[in-house]
Amino acid sequence: MDTEKISKAERFFADISNRLLEEETSNIPAVICSGLSSYMPFAKVQRMSLVRITKDNVHEGAYSVAAPGYTPTKMVGKGFKSPYLDRISAGEAIIHTGPIEEVFTQEEIELVGMAGIVAHVVIPIKVRDRIWGGIACSRYKDHNGWSPVLIERIKTLGQVLAASYERYHFWMSLQNQNKELESLSRHLMENQETERRLLSRELHDNFSQRLALLTIKANNVFGIVRESVKPEAKDLHINIQQIAKDMQALSRSLHPAMLEDLGLIAALKSEARRITGVKALELHTMFGEIPPLKKELSLNLYRILQESLNNVIKHSQASAVFISIEITDNRLTLQILDDGIGCKDNLEKSKGSIGLVSIRERAQLLGGDAEFTSPEDGGFEVSITIPAIKEHYE
Ligand SMILES: Nc1ncnc2c1ncn2[C@@H]1O[C@H](COP(=O)(O)OP(=O)(O)O)[C@@H](O)[C@H]1O
Ligand SMILES: [Mg+2]
Repeated sequence: MDTEKISKAERFFADISNRLLEEETSNIPAVICSGLSSYMPFAKVQRMSLVRITKDNVHEGAYSVAAPGYTPTKMVGKGFKSPYLDRISAGEAIIHTGPIEEVFTQEEIELVGMAGIVAHVVIPIKVRDRIWGGIACSRYKDHNGWSPVLIERIKTLGQVLAASYERYHFWMSLQNQNKELESLSRHLMENQETERRLLSRELHDNFSQRLALLTIKANNVFGIVRESVKPEAKDLHINIQQIAKDMQALSRSLHPAMLEDLGLIAALKSEARRITGVKALELHTMFGEIPPLKKELSLNLYRILQESLNNVIKHSQASAVFISIEITDNRLTLQILDDGIGCKDNLEKSKGSIGLVSIRERAQLLGGDAEFTSPEDGGFEVSITIPAIKEHYE
């Protein structure tokens, strides 16, 4: 006879462990509940819960399930304290057969909905010499005792589920931290935009007006001065005029009113012409059909283009730059490509510069991503993809 047959219990534990390992982390609570549910018939119980308690004996969270026709434990809020939890925290196992009123106060029975229970077990779970929490089983009928083997198995199940519970909660706290960082970065960018808008307005309303006036005055001076100083007066006039023009362009690029008035493509074209004009770079563009896009997206793409082109001017020694933007299959791609010397450094390792980092952050805030590549034979490419672009249509 084969004495080494795999028992039902072993098969059950192997199965639940596999599922906990294979499942997406976000689905772990569902697998914990289904593990508890599928163990109930084995243990002949009608209700099971897994409870997590913190160092200072307060309730931190729980999952509870019940067989059809029964109700799960009423969930109490985080931070809850009770004599019941104190007993688990003290490492005391409660293995009781008989009316629940014999072990708990009426108040506690009502609080978590334990009326009608005729046998109850709570087994503390220890992790690294500390009580992690406990696993509880309740019977509403057929209480034919709790065998030591059953108690041992319930404890094992509790330990397996507790490990996954921890994994899930650690993952959740990372997700939350990521969300906080994301919202911080969004907030910083919004502040930056507000300041740029204020500065742009100041340049436009104050300095530009004063320069315009100065241009007229310089022209008047040109009209009245002696012939011998006219070339200098003319030069002065032209210089002031040029500064006024540059300041207007700067004011526009600080806050692109054009984005709102003429749309993304016109604003991108104008900014690309302005920046490449600075170094007389050849500019090639391929702009596809882009429907009106939401303000946040347009502004971010505009800022990405600005930073990328400023990098081309600053670092690339390129003679030409190519910009393309298009939408295919509900996905927007923006590419800025130059024929310069490229960059041999590891672009993923920040050296304290924030241009590429902020390009990536902007793309990620829009649900997309940024890729930077620099082939061996030179050149540099910034490639932005934003999926589900239809959600960003005006
Ligand atoms: N178009 C480009 N051509 C060559 N190198 C580039 C280009 N764009 C970026 N880089 C490299 O990537 C680095 C990081 O860029 P960035 O984060 O914008 O910082 P910064 O412009 O302040 O140096 C640059 O210092 C440069 O070495
Ligand atoms: Mg830069």
